[in-house]
Amino acid sequence: MKKTSINLIILFAVLCIFGCNKKENQSKTHPTSMENIQISEYGVTSKGDSIKKFTLTNKNGMKVEVINFGGIITSLTAPDKNGKYEDVVLGFTRPEDYFNGNSYYFGALIGRYGNRIANAKFTLEDKTYEVDKNDGPNSLHGGKEGFHTKFWNIEPVKDAKFPTLKLTYTSADGEEGFPGKLTTTVFYTLTDDDALEISYEAETDKPTVVNLTQHSYFNLSGNFTKTILDHELQINADKFLPVNETLIPTGEQKAVKGSPFDFTVSKPIGKDINADDDQLKKGKGYDHNWIPNGSGLRSIAKVYHPESGRVMEVLTDEPGVQFYSGNFLDGKFETKTGGKNELRTGFCLETQHFPDSPNQPSFPSTELKPGQKYQSKTIYKFSVKK
Ligand code: GLA
Repeated sequence: MKKTSINLIILFAVLCIFGCNKKENQSKTHPTSMENIQISEYGVTSKGDSIKKFTLTNKNGMKVEVINFGGIITSLTAPDKNGKYEDVVLGFTRPEDYFNGNSYYFGALIGRYGNRIANAKFTLEDKTYEVDKNDGPNSLHGGKEGFHTKFWNIEPVKDAKFPTLKLTYTSADGEEGFPGKLTTTVFYTLTDDDALEISYEAETDKPTVVNLTQHSYFNLSGNFTKTILDHELQINADKFLPVNETLIPTGEQKAVKGSPFDFTVSKPIGKDINADDDQLKKGKGYDHNWIPNGSGLRSIAKVYHPESGRVMEVLTDEPGVQFYSGNFLDGKFETKTGGKNELRTGFCLETQHFPDSPNQPSFPSTELKPGQKYQSKTIYKFSVKK
């Protein structure tokens, strides 16, 4: 072989090695995940906290907006059958309405205990704790000053594959009556297949109870003046938890078969919502926990809006999901698309452990001990059906 051809082969090999290395480095750092997070001023709370808005954008142009007050998702867009991305989560039009109460829990992270604790009381290792009573005789969503009212520290995650936010909040021992200093971390990731992934982590320094969830209300029509009764819902659950007058589970795990609670085959939310049924009366509609079949991260529910073609699938590793049909929406606030937030203009699928678990030993435990790590994951994935 001639010297020049040997030189050419060596040059080619060097270039190839350099090229391969470059490719490997690129896949490690994912610089685009940071470029796809914009930070802007959102508002100032009455306590003087300056609230920022973090906008995540994926390669399709889907956007999720999150604020560092309550970890609230203020906007989330999803494609319709014509490829149009529109906001599909309910929310206020004025920042101060999130800061001053947010009694609907619009878009918020919920903790320490999502859903209800009967009589706002529970016993742990022989000690009885009284927590904030903010829902008749019960405690709801961690108390009046639950995590939905807190200032969360938010940092974009540098080396993530997709735009990701890391939210942290440390709840003091005794906050809202709950024992133990609880350090909570939540990751919001917007993937390129139009999914919002939410990962929760928590650690405590004393035995406590934890049940974290996300309280976004969805209306896949993109028009918040329309009700969600025409959305078709499927829940992969053969059983649900009947409740008493104050929405505390009775302890029974009841088969849905033959009842308005049967969503095993997709049907419009409005189909049976006004049926003459004691449980629907107690809930003023659907406001119950279903027990999705199976365990581990699995697809538990699917919602389809025929007019827009939008589909939302919910995956979680939690044992329960609260399907709430927006029964307390009362038309007091203006929506982001005009008009008022009337009854049933949004629905929630809040993935979680069962309500009142601290008082119901037959339910999966919500106890967290020092040295243990609470971990849970939920995915809301959007697509279209033509
Ligand atoms: C949850 C509860 C409902 C209601 C809403 C917020 O979904 O189960 O009863 O309190 O939150 O309005």
